[in-house]
Amino acid sequence: MAEPELSQIEYFGDNKRLQTQVTPVAQDTVSIRSLDWDRDRFDIEFGLQNGTTYNSYLIFGEDKTALVDVSHEKFRGLYMPALRAQLERAGRRLDYVFVSHTEPDHSGLVPDVLDAYPGVMVVASKVALAYLKGLTHRPFTERAVKGGDKVDLGGGHEVEFVMAPNLHWPDTMFTFDHATGVMFTCDAFGAHYCTDDAFDTELEALAPHYRFYYDCLMRPNARSVLTALRKVKDLPYTTIATGHGPMLRLNLDELVQRYKGWSEAVGKATASVAVLYASDYGFSDRLSQTLARGITKAGVATDMVDLLSVDPQELVEVVGRSAGVVIMAPPDDSPEAQAALATLLSSLKPKQKVLVAESYGGRDEPVDTLVTNLVGVSVVPVFDALRVKEMPTEGTYQGYEEAGTDMAQALTQKDKIARTKAAMSPDIAKALARLSSGLYVVTAAHSNARGAMIASWVAQASFKPLGLTIAVAKDRAIESLMQVGDTFVLNCLGEGSYGPLMKHFLQRFPPGADRFAGVDTFAAGNGSPALAAAVAHLECTVAARLETPDHWVTYAHVTSGAVADADKKTAVHRRKVANYY
Ligand code: FEO
Repeated sequence: MAEPELSQIEYFGDNKRLQTQVTPVAQDTVSIRSLDWDRDRFDIEFGLQNGTTYNSYLIFGEDKTALVDVSHEKFRGLYMPALRAQLERAGRRLDYVFVSHTEPDHSGLVPDVLDAYPGVMVVASKVALAYLKGLTHRPFTERAVKGGDKVDLGGGHEVEFVMAPNLHWPDTMFTFDHATGVMFTCDAFGAHYCTDDAFDTELEALAPHYRFYYDCLMRPNARSVLTALRKVKDLPYTTIATGHGPMLRLNLDELVQRYKGWSEAVGKATASVAVLYASDYGFSDRLSQTLARGITKAGVATDMVDLLSVDPQELVEVVGRSAGVVIMAPPDDSPEAQAALATLLSSLKPKQKVLVAESYGGRDEPVDTLVTNLVGVSVVPVFDALRVKEMPTEGTYQGYEEAGTDMAQALTQKDKIARTKAAMSPDIAKALARLSSGLYVVTAAHSNARGAMIASWVAQASFKPLGLTIAVAKDRAIESLMQVGDTFVLNCLGEGSYGPLMKHFLQRFPPGADRFAGVDTFAAGNGSPALAAAVAHLECTVAARLETPDHWVTYAHVTSGAVADADKKTAVHRRKVANYY
């Protein structure tokens, strides 16, 4: 097999490196990977430590040539020449574009491909074709496919389509090539992880990115993940060609099993929330995913439902089995959304917990109208409506995630306390409480998102490099700011003086509230706020995370530190029982 080819580097903005890599994947199949080396946010809710890639593939059948997904429009200057060169080298024209999913990171250059290769046929799900029309603003030859439909490219390259809705939009499909065993899955099984190794060679390095990506994009759709896995279980795939990050081949079974295990764990949740959003409208998709992430962090399952394409019967079923419902304001001029809202209003029960949130799409159905309509059918939202006054920032996403967690906790609080008590015998609970520890506040900041939490499960864990561990409950808001590569400050509280800080940080903050209002802080060297009243502070960088059923044990390297009051000791936290902190 030929060696990968890397293009020259181009720059996006002042200093973000872009590069294209062409890699052989299998017989008659190459990838054109757009390497976005320095992308540090994925628009939004998730910070990226290692950039990302947008992967596109060419299948050269004996008779026909197909392109699977395209690229982000920022790669126009690199991607289009790379595509042209591959086709010219093979002496081929382009016959098909298989569009797995229409989010612009994969379809931004579809209009350019339509212009460059007139007559090319676009093959996609019915929903994807509808979205594409709004994106391309030009006529094109199309074929809508369903699960099980096939296209024969010749020479054994018979490709079969598998509908995989909600991974990550309702439009998504997988494509399986029977000749090579390559399955193209777009967002599913991806990772925001940019390296010039196109495959999953370094499992340990890839693993935290693969998990974080799953938590952000796939976990809210865990039921859809399991459905998709059932649909492909009899397909003999040997490579998963993802839309982001490395292709899965060397650790294929292990990584697929992880998706299965994580999704099955979500399925065991005792409660679920229906999150109703509008795909491809304003920030509805992003904000709803963030909210859903907050919900699933607290152990509650979610069903993501697109108000613009949902079948009424399906909506009634999903709402019927949900303890809570989130309504993201849809566009006020959409007949589909209006019909879905009418179905919703007739399905809701007064005991269901409801949250209404803006989508910041420019034409949002006013949230006050939504609330009035709910009250009209005796359903009173139990949380304040979430409003967005300006272009969503990291702080906005933080508020949505926290609102999701609050909602989930409200649904499970009673059960959780009972389960915690039942999980341990009184004797063990008393003995375990003899483990004593200090009292600390963890503080972290990322752009305009800031977080803090009281911590007591803290211990030094290594000498070289200096390292410590902190156990962070999975439903803590600050958990989002403590991913591998993130920085934070550990503030040591002083014996005899910790009361006011402890009281402040133990209070229940409303979603998105500034935890530091009224607290004296200074900026530590790593950018996180440090508490002026702490007896010492340590600057840390997260190096690894170990998952337990309800906490992340976060191992961090200590990069700096200082003692503010040498005469004071760190407060000791003693407990009577170990069922609680
Ligand atoms: Fe990578 Fe949902 O787009």
